Parts: sequence; C-alpha cells; structure tokens
Amino acid sequence: MQTTQKISVTPFQQADNLVKMLLQENQFRTLMAYYRSAMVEIETKFKVLNESLSVTHDRNPIETIKCRIKDPRSIIEKLLRKGLPITLESIEKYIRDVAGVRVICAFPEDVYLLAEYLLKQDDIQLIRVKDYIKNPKNSGYRSLHLIVKVPIFLANEKRMMNVEIQLRTIAMDFWASLEHKMKYKKDLKDADKIADQLRKCAADIAELDLNMQKIRNQIDKKDDWDSVSHFPIHIDMDA
Ligand code: GTP
Ligand code: MG
Repeated sequence: MQTTQKISVTPFQQADNLVKMLLQENQFRTLMAYYRSAMVEIETKFKVLNESLSVTHDRNPIETIKCRIKDPRSIIEKLLRKGLPITLESIEKYIRDVAGVRVICAFPEDVYLLAEYLLKQDDIQLIRVKDYIKNPKNSGYRSLHLIVKVPIFLANEKRMMNVEIQLRTIAMDFWASLEHKMKYKKDLKDADKIADQLRKCAADIAELDLNMQKIRNQIDKKDDWDSVSHFPIHIDMDA
C-alpha cells in the first residue's frame, strides 16, 4: 500500500487524513491483528513463566502485565517524524513498538530473572536490549527494554513479529506513571528545577528498591543479586 500523494494541508490534518486512509485498508487491519496476536503470545509466555516460577522458586515474580497496541495516529506521527514512507512495509520494518507488553515485578532481581527466562526460549529472537536500570535515562527513567521477534502461526504461514517489552518494578512504574502525567503540563516555569526534583525522586526510589531487595534476600537467606549471576544466559548488551 502506498499513500504518497502530496496533500496541501496542515501536518495535523495530514496525519488525520493518513489515519483515515490506513483504517480503510484491509491489509492494515490484518497487520494490526498480527501484532495483537504477537502481543498475546508474549503475555502468555510471561503468565506461564509466573506459574512455573511459583512452583520452582515459591514466588510469583509478576505483579501486573499491561498490553497495548500503538494507535494508528501515533504510528503515522512516528513515521512522519522519522521521515519514513507511510507504507505497511515501513511500519513492520521501522516501528518496533507497535505491540507493547509491560511487565511489572515486585523486586529488581525479578526483572532480570524474567528477561533471562524469556530470552532462553528457542522461538524468541532478541533484536535489541536497552537497560535503563543499569544506565538510567537523563530524566531518571528506569526499566529494562527488550525488542524481540516472536512467531505467530497463521493458516498457511509463520510470521515473526516485533514486540517491545518493558520490564520494571512497582516502584519504577510508580515513578514513570507520575512523571509521564506531569510531562504533559507544558507551561512549566521552572522546568529545569522540576527535572532535577524528578531525577532525585527516581534515585530515592531506586534506593528503596535496592533496600526492599536486600530485605527479601535476607528473608530468603541468600546473597544480594546472587540468583541473577547464576543464570546461564547473559543478556547481550550490544544487541
Ligand atoms: P520511541 O520512539 O519513543 O519509542 O523511542 P525509542 O525506540 O528510543 O524507545 P526507548 O527504548 O527510549 O523507550 C521509549 C518508551 O519508554 C516510551 O514510549 C515510554 O514508554 C518509556 N520511556 C522512555 N523514557 C521515558 C521517560 O523519561 N519517562 C517515562 N515516563 N517513560 C519513558
Ligand atoms: Mg515507543
């Protein structure tokens, strides 16, 4: 599908028109159905891991799983922003967060535990890792981001679909949700001061996470972070 004709309208109207055109395309709706299927596959894998770890490790590492499909307007805006053609091919090739799964865990160790177990599965292909826990963003944002490809099985073919996975603790999620809400208050006077305060809150929250992890490890009578280092697979940070 190509929608390359020139439209002499504002960028806002242009995006609106393109969204309308996309939504009328059967192939676009089919592609979104593929992404929804891939998202469900990943969600199910995490639910199964949670069940399995509840037996082997006597705990449920996952608190909540949230899934979302990027809405067509955000897809169009991202393509326009990146100067990419508005085609189904470029959505599949360049927009790797159409399907998103957010996994919220109780403790930082659980984030890495789940990531390692997911990446060990032989049908999962790792495309990219961004560890914003070890290397927080300048805003203070912390989470482990993975882009993976997961197969979906259709009537006559198998397709590998991109899914963005964000793993974080309850504390990191609390910070990210509130910061996200506040970011949209545009007319901030002391923007720099506020950014500093948010960074400080993120650092305090990270310390709390670490302390809670230590308490849990004390209860479990094991050394800090030892379980993570025992896993056979290590996430390749250059992926
Ligand atoms: P995008 O084009 O935004 O998807 O950029 P990217 O591909 O470089 O993605 P990145 O791995 O940096 O993560 C993007 C996603 O992480 C966003 O959609 C948010 O959900 C989350 N995120 C990243 N930075 C922040 C932040 O500073 N605050 C909050 N609240 N969320 C963030
Ligand atoms: Mg994104």
